[in-house]
Amino acid sequence: MSARNDAPRVAVVTGGASGIGKAIAERLAADGHQIAVFDLNPGEAPHSYAVDVTDRAAIDAALQRVHDELGQVGILVNAAGLDGFKPFLKISFEDWQKVVNVNLHGVFHMIQAVLPEMVDAGWGRIVNISSSSTHSGTPYMSHYVSAKSGVNGLTKSLALEFGPSGVTVNAVPPGFIDTPMLRKAEERGMLGDINKTIEATPVRRMGKPEDIAAAVAFLASEEASYITGQILGVNGGRNT
Ligand code: NAI
Repeated sequence: MSARNDAPRVAVVTGGASGIGKAIAERLAADGHQIAVFDLNPGEAPHSYAVDVTDRAAIDAALQRVHDELGQVGILVNAAGLDGFKPFLKISFEDWQKVVNVNLHGVFHMIQAVLPEMVDAGWGRIVNISSSSTHSGTPYMSHYVSAKSGVNGLTKSLALEFGPSGVTVNAVPPGFIDTPMLRKAEERGMLGDINKTIEATPVRRMGKPEDIAAAVAFLASEEASYITGQILGVNGGRNT
């Protein structure tokens, strides 16, 4: 089902092989766009590229292939992410760098690599998946929350810088979405009792990857052209 009549675009979705990114890729495809997935473990879907978002040379090489195979990129969704759980005093600088590298520096590299063609075209949509933990802070995730807070700040700054060029930049911080990342954290005992979190969530359920995809699809659409620099929480009302 195509929800919109927008012009078809080429959309690059990082982290598009799993969880939230996968649902975003599927939803943007249903909306008529052509999808390129950049992921460490890209899977078998067409136009899936093995890319580490911390590796600028790998990003540039994959983008060249996207240009050759699909054309110019109009939509970029940064969903690749890596969580981390450690008491602050136990976080080594290597731990810190690893988490910040993927969650913040990866977003920097992707946006800097893709923006010039959006500016040339006078049209672009960038949506960054941050985290609802940035609203509240989260114990044992100081490196992750710092990186994701950086993503929110980057979003706001780039919205101001590139609004005049026709490029909107927004962030969607998800909260408590049922994905492989969340289930792995649960298995490691990092989330406590999931039922208690559901009780503390006003809409009384976990989020689905499709809940995030719906918000991203809207922000990526033509009709969202007056919306930029926004942090649109999708979290069932918790952590807002
Ligand atoms: P996931 O683990 O299911 O998917 C993440 C994807 O990113 C995987 O396919 C993985 O291979 C890819 N990836 C990881 N490091 C990469 C790298 N260096 N380069 C390229 N790809 C890489 O996780 P999920 O839950 O779908 O998370 C998606 C985004 O949403 C992440 O940025 C995460 O931090 C964020 N998020 C998720 C929440 C949740 O409740 N699941 C809550 C808040 C934020």
